[in-house]
Amino acid sequence: MLGKYQLLDGRKPSSDIESSSSQGLLEAESASIHHRAQNRVTAKVKTILPWVVHAILIVISTTLFVLSTRNKQCLCENASTSILGKDWSTRISPRRFNGTFNLSSTFKGPPSQAVDEAWDSLMPQYLIRIKESEFRNLNASKYTAEIDDAEGGRIAIFESFHMIHCLNGLWQTTYPEYYSSLHAYNQEHPDEFHEHTDHCVDMLRQKLMCDADGALITYNWQKNHYYPHPNFNVQHRCRDYSRLLEFSEERRLDGALLRPEEKAVVEFEEMPFDPDAAS
Ligand SMILES: *[C@@H]1O[C@H](CO)[C@@H](O)[C@H](O)[C@H]1NC(C)=O
Ligand SMILES: *[C@@H]1O[C@H](CO)[C@@H](O)[C@H](O)[C@H]1NC(C)=O
Ligand SMILES: *[C@@H]1O[C@H](CO)[C@@H](O)[C@H](O)[C@H]1NC(C)=O
Ligand SMILES: *[C@@H]1O[C@H](CO)[C@@H](O)[C@H](O)[C@H]1NC(C)=O
Repeated sequence: MLGKYQLLDGRKPSSDIESSSSQGLLEAESASIHHRAQNRVTAKVKTILPWVVHAILIVISTTLFVLSTRNKQCLCENASTSILGKDWSTRISPRRFNGTFNLSSTFKGPPSQAVDEAWDSLMPQYLIRIKESEFRNLNASKYTAEIDDAEGGRIAIFESFHMIHCLNGLWQTTYPEYYSSLHAYNQEHPDEFHEHTDHCVDMLRQKLMCDADGALITYNWQKNHYYPHPNFNVQHRCRDYSRLLEFSEERRLDGALLRPEEKAVVEFEEMPFDPDAAS
């Protein structure tokens, strides 16, 4: 409220015009009516011009600000977030992690059916349909597999689910007795096991570096200890993971996804890095 009144006061529109007019009238004694009119116009331009310039500058700076924040929000994730709605990148809320060492959690060991179900609920085991218009914003391979039905579109899955799957796999390897068949398979196929694990860790590393979480771990003094201890109960800025689950449910692809029989497809030996690559 105060700001509004100050702004109006500062403008002083009527007194500005009055003083300009009286100046014009003084000059008018020795000048023609034509001159007087011209002076009035000049005075009016003088009054209005700063406001026009101000308005232009405000528009320019606002545009630049919006563009700069948009660029920051879109880093690394622009492509997959836009389909989740316009407000997705801004719909971020503060959440404090439970980082206490001995705090039990649905996702922590010891393993059980309940723990497995908790993890499974975070990663749907199906693929989803992405519309052509959405696909165009992804900067993905232009030979991305198409869905061979009337609705069309492309096959996809959220990266988040892949990463959770990867983390869950890593966690399971720390309980070889419980996940014994997985353990046995890994023992029999060490090359494959290391390839998978290396891939997984490297994906998580890139994602963590991409997000570059600037949240800070602070330290507290702990009873009977000389050194300060890290407090992992840190407040973070979090997106709404459940939105990914909802969206996937809406776009769920059922049935087997087989290679189309009638259409020719572009095949790859290795997944293409360059979106334009044709082989
Ligand atoms: C980011 O998303 C917007 C909106 O979908 C799109 O117009 C823009 O081209 C995308 N930018 C990049 C770098 O993918
Ligand atoms: C984390 O801690 C908060 C506050 O004590 C609690 O409400 C929440 O249920 C906890 N979450 C888990 C997964 O333990
Ligand atoms: C965690 O450790 C603290 C301190 O040793 C103890 O007071 C608390 O009961 C423990 N909580 C659990 C869930 O084990
Ligand atoms: C699309 O990806 C290519 C290859 O990584 C990159 O050079 C290009 O800048 C990207 N385009 C956009 C709009 O992000």
